[in-house]
Amino acid sequence: MASAKSLKVLFVTSEVVPFVKTGGLADVSSALPQKLQELGHQVRIVVPKYGSIDERKYKIHEVVRLKDLTTKIGKKEVTYSLRSSFLIGSKVRVQIYFLDNEEYFGSRHSLYTDPIKGTNYKDNDERFILLSKSVFELIDKLGWVPDVIHLNDWQTSLIPIYQKTLYKENEKFKNIKTLLTVHNIGQQGIFSKTSFAKTGLPENLNNNKGVLFKDKLNFLKAGLKFADTISTVSESYSKEICKIPEISYGLKDEINCRKKDLYGIVNGIDTLIWNPEKDKKIAKKFSLTSLKNKLVNKEELAEKFGLDFEPEIPTIGMISHLEDNKGFDLLKKSFKEIMALDIKLVLLGTGEKKYHKFFEDAEMKYSEKFACYLGFDDDLAHLIEAGSDMFLMPSKYEPCGLNQMYSLVYGTIPIVRNTGGLADTVVNYNPKDKKGTGFVFKKYESKDLINTIKKAITLYKDKKAWERLMKTGMKVNFSWLNSSKNYVSLYKNIIK
Ligand code: GLC
Repeated sequence: MASAKSLKVLFVTSEVVPFVKTGGLADVSSALPQKLQELGHQVRIVVPKYGSIDERKYKIHEVVRLKDLTTKIGKKEVTYSLRSSFLIGSKVRVQIYFLDNEEYFGSRHSLYTDPIKGTNYKDNDERFILLSKSVFELIDKLGWVPDVIHLNDWQTSLIPIYQKTLYKENEKFKNIKTLLTVHNIGQQGIFSKTSFAKTGLPENLNNNKGVLFKDKLNFLKAGLKFADTISTVSESYSKEICKIPEISYGLKDEINCRKKDLYGIVNGIDTLIWNPEKDKKIAKKFSLTSLKNKLVNKEELAEKFGLDFEPEIPTIGMISHLEDNKGFDLLKKSFKEIMALDIKLVLLGTGEKKYHKFFEDAEMKYSEKFACYLGFDDDLAHLIEAGSDMFLMPSKYEPCGLNQMYSLVYGTIPIVRNTGGLADTVVNYNPKDKKGTGFVFKKYESKDLINTIKKAITLYKDKKAWERLMKTGMKVNFSWLNSSKNYVSLYKNIIK
């Protein structure tokens, strides 16, 4: 057991900034461990070493005790190593272990999907079985026994059941508690029933009462069932997955069985990276007292996107995966009407092919108002946050979302749908008492979306009111400190 003060946490994840990122999980996996360590706890991270991670740059080195370990995946004997480095933060450095196996990770630059076929790698089951098993070897070989293993998403979700079966005889693992954080219940790690044999789990789990769901191996379901505690990345999302079938992606009953162990802790943002006063990636830094400098960013943004700079016309920014869940089916349906409004719209992101095509066409059709960059570019993301007047996130559901928080601190007013983390971090503006931080629409319908954008445009014309709104948002504190303290309380609660 840990002393009352300092906890040992092993944080297992499939992506971490700055090493590798496809989504918000990578940001959380970097910021939260750092903050926990700043608070005096001992944290170590485990992540796969994908081919895209630069060994030299990050000084990833061998650990003799963790070299050439072996395990079985089905009948296959797999050799791997855990190599070590540090996640260097501004105040602390966090020990990080890279799971190194050429076949499963080293030879691939992409994380989960085959870049050529555009589909999930066929052996994702084997890859993340290996990640799960390696965690036990790591603890055993190092003799560093965590109080809590903090798991993230389906890729790590077999760990609790491994602890309770294959590894249950080892004394070292006995008192470890597991917390599974669900960043997106839509991603479950579903494989055919035949994959069960690869897990090496006892046959009595090879059914829907065990780790199968609807007769398929389902990693996330296994995690939901066997983790000691579960959390999601916002309070509202934790409630929605219990109630709304479409949001729970079929796992509503599973999650309801664990309702008393389910918590919602909203993510924070990294205020060293996302801070308009210090951001080196934007055209001109600005703050509450130098708001006019934001306009320089607006001008730069227009130029980058090849749009005419018209300071009086509001620019709406979007940065997102281009997929239905993020609201792109709704956006597509409403696009013509949006383009009829007196605005400019800039979009950064990649995603489903149909949306690439749609936006490429739209860029030609509405060349004066709309421009997009269908790729990923971190510098451009910062400039969009800094240079836009408004930021649109019409998500169908959103476990937490980070861009709405970045927007607020950059004085860029979010227009969001009332769901998950968006509902928890943006307060709808009320013209009567002038309270609120953004614009929130309820129904996933064109009418609601358009009317809400119109409300924002109207207020934008009232310079004073708009400036007040900007300043209110810029003052909100989204730092990780609060969230990480909530995690600490939760860890303590679990190990009690
Ligand atoms: C997932 C969710 C997103 C959340 C992020 C980090 O990407 O879709 O809403 O912000 O994880 O928790």
